[in-house]
Amino acid sequence: MNPKAEPHILFDRQEIKVTVRRLASEISKDYRNQNPILLGILTGSFVFLADLIRHLHFPLEVDFIGLSSYGHSTQTSGKIRVGKKLDRPIQGRNVLVVEDIVDTGLTTAFLLDYLQRRKPASVKLCALTDKPARRKVPVKIDYLGFTVPNKFLVGYGLDADQKFRNLPDICYLEDKA
Ligand code: IMP
Ligand code: MG
Repeated sequence: MNPKAEPHILFDRQEIKVTVRRLASEISKDYRNQNPILLGILTGSFVFLADLIRHLHFPLEVDFIGLSSYGHSTQTSGKIRVGKKLDRPIQGRNVLVVEDIVDTGLTTAFLLDYLQRRKPASVKLCALTDKPARRKVPVKIDYLGFTVPNKFLVGYGLDADQKFRNLPDICYLEDKA
């Protein structure tokens, strides 16, 4: 990360709140009687997932999986490593993957395949943001918050070298003038 880069607001906390509520209402229609497992991808999705589930007023479970691509910073290498594994089996369960951002799509494509091999009843994807300009593999996003421009985003869980996750707004990094 360029140490001179500083965050600028792209979507503020109020816009995020409206969008999270909209997603929760879409998800509620489909999952109300499904006792789904909401599966957050560590680490970036934790803020979004925490806000989302507080608008879901039906039984559900939460798990997390740790995925990272080799390499560091803003460049994705394409090889995915599983860190923290699933805590409980997902066989026969309805799984909703919750992701912060779909960028190249390699992480989500890897995860959807990883989950399908464990025989869930269904797997769908909820992504807070989608950056289609950088897509390398096709990914179907079932519930989408925001389509975003080809900029590096931070805040609301998203990081740049582990920093800025605590910003309450979704921001983009831009060099100081
Ligand atoms: P993908 O595999 O390229 O789709 O990227 C997936 C992961 O890369 C996301 O889950 C994020 O953790 C990270 N990522 C991609 N773009 C951004 C960004 O703009 N800001 C912060 N993290 C990002
Ligand atoms: Mg992530």
